[in-house]
Amino acid sequence: MCGIYAAVNNTPVVNELIKGLDSLSYRGYDSAGVAVFSGNHIERRRAQGKLECLANVLYNSPIDGNVGIAHTRWATHGLPNELNAHPHMTSKVAVVHNGIIENYKALRDFLTDADYHFESETDSEVIPLLLTYFLDRGLTAEQALKSTIHKLDGSFALVAIFQQSPYELYAARQGSPLVIGQSKTGFSISSDDNALPENTEASCHLQDGDLARITQQQLTITNFYGDDIKRSLIARQTQADVTEKAGYEHFMHKEMHEQPKVFKRTLKHYLQAIEVQGETHLSLKPLTKLTNKISRLTVVACGTSYYAGMVAKYWIEEFAGVPVDLDIASEYRYRKMPMNMQSAALFISQSGETADTLAALQHAKQAGQTCISIVNVTNSTMANESDLVLPILAGREIGVASTKAFTAQLAALMAVTLTLAKSNGLLTHQDEDRMLTELFSLDSVMTAVLAQENEIKAISKSLVSSDNALFMGRGIAFPLALEGALKLKEISYIHAEAYPAGELKHGPIALVDESMPVVVVAPNNELFAKTLSNLREVASRGARIILVSDSQGIAQASDFIEHAITLPKATDLMVPVIYNLPMQLLAYYASVLKGNDVDQPRNLAKSVTVE
Ligand code: G6P
Repeated sequence: MCGIYAAVNNTPVVNELIKGLDSLSYRGYDSAGVAVFSGNHIERRRAQGKLECLANVLYNSPIDGNVGIAHTRWATHGLPNELNAHPHMTSKVAVVHNGIIENYKALRDFLTDADYHFESETDSEVIPLLLTYFLDRGLTAEQALKSTIHKLDGSFALVAIFQQSPYELYAARQGSPLVIGQSKTGFSISSDDNALPENTEASCHLQDGDLARITQQQLTITNFYGDDIKRSLIARQTQADVTEKAGYEHFMHKEMHEQPKVFKRTLKHYLQAIEVQGETHLSLKPLTKLTNKISRLTVVACGTSYYAGMVAKYWIEEFAGVPVDLDIASEYRYRKMPMNMQSAALFISQSGETADTLAALQHAKQAGQTCISIVNVTNSTMANESDLVLPILAGREIGVASTKAFTAQLAALMAVTLTLAKSNGLLTHQDEDRMLTELFSLDSVMTAVLAQENEIKAISKSLVSSDNALFMGRGIAFPLALEGALKLKEISYIHAEAYPAGELKHGPIALVDESMPVVVVAPNNELFAKTLSNLREVASRGARIILVSDSQGIAQASDFIEHAITLPKATDLMVPVIYNLPMQLLAYYASVLKGNDVDQPRNLAKSVTVE
């Protein structure tokens, strides 16, 4: 995990490094550091805590130079303190690393026996010490780097600067992303394309096994054995995305309010208008790899993307008649299940870089599956490795807790569902036109739901007074209960669990008393009466019920509930898009009321690039 940024320029780079780290801080924010060639030697500054802490250190003890490396950390090995912050260095080399060195214990023992001294508890520090070990034995910077890399097991992206080559950066990639940008003044390296500076004219993604040597004027790429590799620097389009808060207090708040627009944009991408007998109809754009008969689909993801996948399971089975196996990526990648060669596997990821989902995709690909990915970042590793990429076009999501990406994933998954239904002969042209027309106007319904913000804010007060909360839902509402509970625990730190409504009495009901808020997600569909019975069961044990339903549903439960959030009547395709919105707002306001850091909640990172 963690974010790497580095630059070699014809002007001082520290401001650029800090700006780059700021854009990368979604990848980790427990400590940060920089190292630059200041005069004729490497100088380092590090600080525990958010980037402001490093900025303060630099203010009090400035350094600058034209070549530098920087890092924002999410702790995996060792406490989040200054000693464990990157860059790690010796008198000969400084290194920033993203990933996990799995054999670090053996390497640490080897280096300790050879009289090399460790300052930190991190796995990463073996890299500069191994480099120093090889430099001490007369190897050049490049030779030392190759020898070091051959000793590392695990995943890494790393950038190093060497005391003996003050005008060069060295970068290597094995399993964690790195992109190199070129501008008129030099080169920048980053874990994420979006963090490259605005004046970047062309960029190039390193691939696994690439080793790059970068000076202010030249980029050379080889493999880990020294053979030349040709990678083109591709001209960049201007970044359309605005990364400002646009008057909102938090990115999450802004991103929640972008959802109607994002939903419409994503859906539109998968639709086309066709003329039938002089009339215009909406139709799905063909997705060829999906229309080849798929008899069974495996859906794999992590976190919020996994819950989008669970919604898809309900949809695809109901509307397209295709059985769906749903898996958490970290489980799927190691399960030794038999795979049917005719199957397709669908991977959902906002970032396209989540280590477990990426490894699951590679596992499925090796087993001969057709791999489809639904991603927001279309130049991500997952997108590059998939047979079919379905973009969600959500724009850059900065809040660590995912909101608009989930909604956009649902829009893409609607297109997948209806495409499969159509190719299985379960969707007539008339139904296709009618359903797409209804869905296409859902943005105005979403806007109306978001406008209930003040009432939902008042209801969130009743959550904040409790340390625990339960969520429940049945059928299509169950994944939304799970996502609602995840959102609440992520940003408000209130312990929240979600259960299928029918399962509560098999254990969690023992937790229910007068202090327990229970959020009941109950669209007024054919399962409503069943959920209502479960609502009564918890209500009769004193639970404080927050019911999310339509006005008819709420009228039937009015005697039992403390609060209600009234939503419009909706079909099973619309429910997830609409019902998720109040759940996001509940979590958001609970977090705001508790004074938490909404956009960068503790211990979390937006893109989890370690397993
Ligand atoms: C992290 C983020 C979540 C996200 C999950 C999966 O846990 O904090 O918001 O849902 O990773 O990320 P992905 O990029 O694969 O969707």
